[in-house]
Amino acid sequence: MAISKKWLAAGVLCALAAGAQAQVNQIKVWAAACANCHGTDGRAEPGAVSLAGQSKDDLTQKLLDFKAGKRPATIMHQLAKGYSDEQLTQIAGYFAAQKK
Ligand code: HEC
Repeated sequence: MAISKKWLAAGVLCALAAGAQAQVNQIKVWAAACANCHGTDGRAEPGAVSLAGQSKDDLTQKLLDFKAGKRPATIMHQLAKGYSDEQLTQIAGYFAAQKK
């Protein structure tokens, strides 16, 4: 019995780890939608705004302000509306973690 409990625990841990990995991959997929304009991993070509390495709080606030229409935008106010606040926070965290 003790052994099967151990295997059960190992199985649960694996499932949790896989879940966390899937979550990270999902955030990468969301972030990939930004690459066309903001560059791979948020490192933009000259002329566009780099997101990489900005603080998570700043990025989150900018995205929420775009969504709320509080920050002037040509396109970001429309894009930001496609994500929940929670998703925007996670995307902000992703770009904040990328090297400038
Ligand atoms: C079609 C091109 C395009 C795409 C795709 C795009 N952006 Fe933008 N982004 C812009 C433009 C242009 C601006 C400048 C504000 C404006 O005119 O809307 C901007 C501004 C921003 C800013 C403010 C940057 C700053 O420091 O002032 C953030 C944050 C941002 N975008 C995040 C994102 C995220 C996150 C995504 C993906 C979910 C994304 N953008 C996808 C074009 C784009």
